[in-house]
Amino acid sequence: MHYLIIGASGGLGQALLQHYAKSLAQGELTQLSAMSRQARPAGLDDTISWYQVNGDLSDYQQVFTQLEAEQAVLHGVVSTIGWLHQGDWQPERRIEALDEAQLNAYFAVNATLPIMLLQGLKPILARKEPAFVAQLGAKVGSISDNQLGGWYGYRASKAALNMLFKTAAIEFKRTHKKLSLAVIHPGTTDTELSKPFQQRIADGKLFSAEQSAARIAQVINNLDPSDSGGFWFWDGSRLPY
Ligand SMILES: NC(=O)c1ccc[n+]([C@@H]2O[C@H](COP(=O)([O-])OP(=O)(O)OC[C@H]3O[C@@H](n4cnc5c(N)ncnc54)[C@H](OP(=O)(O)O)[C@@H]3O)[C@@H](O)[C@H]2O)c1
Repeated sequence: MHYLIIGASGGLGQALLQHYAKSLAQGELTQLSAMSRQARPAGLDDTISWYQVNGDLSDYQQVFTQLEAEQAVLHGVVSTIGWLHQGDWQPERRIEALDEAQLNAYFAVNATLPIMLLQGLKPILARKEPAFVAQLGAKVGSISDNQLGGWYGYRASKAALNMLFKTAAIEFKRTHKKLSLAVIHPGTTDTELSKPFQQRIADGKLFSAEQSAARIAQVINNLDPSDSGGFWFWDGSRLPY
């Protein structure tokens, strides 16, 4: 079985790669690959393949085309791609703070890129055997659970992600009967993404990346194709869209 981690340099990406590196060492996986905009980290186990991309969709696509030419078949893909804050672009608390370019950037990275990657992955996903594509999402992307408001762009782009994956799941049921598509909320995890907001988190509610990676992998283990398109909490329970 060949697994691929996309967005392998972020907090959760690194931890997921380390988690699945153990599965590779134990022989549960035959191949493990990683994609990232960052260079291969020094000292990474050389049995792991590393594909550096520039962040443009066409660059990810080139790698998928290369894998297809090599007749690679993927049984598992985890994408951690997502952003919440960068420089002056901070989550919007009020409608006056909305900025068109920032909103577009949320949708581009949190929703459009993940579904376009799924399009590119389609030819190399296992068709006859069980397989999964898990994209990390966010509980704040639940429309029915939104009680607090704020964070317009992040919430809306993660809600769009849920709709895109749910829609794809309906279509893929015809061609990839054993495929599970999933959007998984990792829980609040100690990474660069959550750093500016950690003071407000209640004691015991901030998890290490290693802890969250193990929980995400557990949710993935329990996925069933009949639930494809689901939106999951880190403990394996369903989240409402
Ligand atoms: N940390 C939390 O508390 C938390 C809570 C809820 C949901 N999440 C979700 O979990 C996922 C991982 O988050 P994290 O905490 O590990 O954050 P992180 O350390 O900032 O990692 C984010 C990842 O997204 C990729 N990425 C960011 N901007 C990108 C862009 N413009 N183009 C392509 N790739 C981009 C990066 O991939 P490269 O390897 O290519 O740099 C990076 O690995 C995100 O989708 C986030 O929304 C996190």
